[in-house]
Amino acid sequence: MVSRQGALTITLIPGDGIGPEVTRAVVRVLAAAGFSPEWETFSAGAEAVAEHGTTLPPALLESITRNKIALKGPISTPVGKGFTSVNVGLRKALDLYANLRPVWNLPSVPSRFQNVDLVIVRENTEDLYAGLEHTVVPGVVESLKIITEVASTRIAEFAFDQARRRGRKRVTAIHKANIMKLSDGLFLDCARKVAARYPEIEFDDRIVDAACMHLVMHPERLDVLLLPNLYGDIVSDLCAGLVGGLGVVPAANLGFNGVGVFEAVHGSAPDIAGQDIANPTALLLSAVLMLQHLQLDAKADAIMHALKKVLASGHVTPDLGGKATTTSFAEAICHELSSK
Ligand code: NAI
Repeated sequence: MVSRQGALTITLIPGDGIGPEVTRAVVRVLAAAGFSPEWETFSAGAEAVAEHGTTLPPALLESITRNKIALKGPISTPVGKGFTSVNVGLRKALDLYANLRPVWNLPSVPSRFQNVDLVIVRENTEDLYAGLEHTVVPGVVESLKIITEVASTRIAEFAFDQARRRGRKRVTAIHKANIMKLSDGLFLDCARKVAARYPEIEFDDRIVDAACMHLVMHPERLDVLLLPNLYGDIVSDLCAGLVGGLGVVPAANLGFNGVGVFEAVHGSAPDIAGQDIANPTALLLSAVLMLQHLQLDAKADAIMHALKKVLASGHVTPDLGGKATTTSFAEAICHELSSK
């Protein structure tokens, strides 16, 4: 959001574990690229419980609603303590219906394939994730798969808009409509209807199992993927595995009126927290998505260029086989940006 003074304000959730370290590094790189909004910083998750009695303080939700944009570090979800995931809570509270995960190869990142350049669009609100489960009789449970025309149409429109905005050529809907004729059939039908409104973008569809085989054999042949919630969850991690894993892929959760939460896909990595060795690449790439969302493409491009140069130089963190610290890696990117 732009304040009366003309300054942009963005909600910042550093998170816990390695979250504060990678967030600090990313804020620093953004500043070196000439992007210094006012950051409204909030805690969330277990950290927030001590202070506010809830994992998602109302003031945090109010801040994101007002600013429309949030950058979020990873947050631990303690197992067996009655905590619900902050990520799921944010998606529900802000109706972030679209999950966007571009997947690219990066220099110095070991991966099974080269030339992977996919954009994954996942529906975020319904399908088997609607949480409608019950015991029919002891020993028999039922879980309801909800697919609606409204949600399927809006996510298809989102995928085609992304394809148009990113100059992509083809959208592929992924489904199992041969078996789930009504639910996945509706999802596919909505995608086909939306596709007819974007004649310049090719449209095709694949059955999810065949799509997975195709992805692990010829990922370079696919472009923008449009998926309902469950297949999207699985296929997006599969695609991250094609380019080196969750540590190097960004994500955005987007809703109405430009609301967006930009986050790394990896967790809070408690095993390496506080050691200044976490790789900030995924959160930095998420910040690049945020800049693109704000239509600050020149700054996004400059950061991508600097990041690729530093990765290619081999000055990388231990997870990529290097000796760089989080701080020195960020410094090297800042140096690249300032020497342009
Ligand atoms: P994790 O992603 O935190 O860690 C898995 C492995 O990857 C660890 O060996 C870790 O050191 C490494 N790793 C992760 N990110 C790294 C980075 N940026 N640089 C270098 N190495 C990195 O997954 P895990 O251990 O399953 O989850 C830990 C906590 O994070 C849990 O409480 C979980 O609920 C939470 N989590 C939060 C997410 C989020 O806020 N978006 C997403 C996934 C998990």
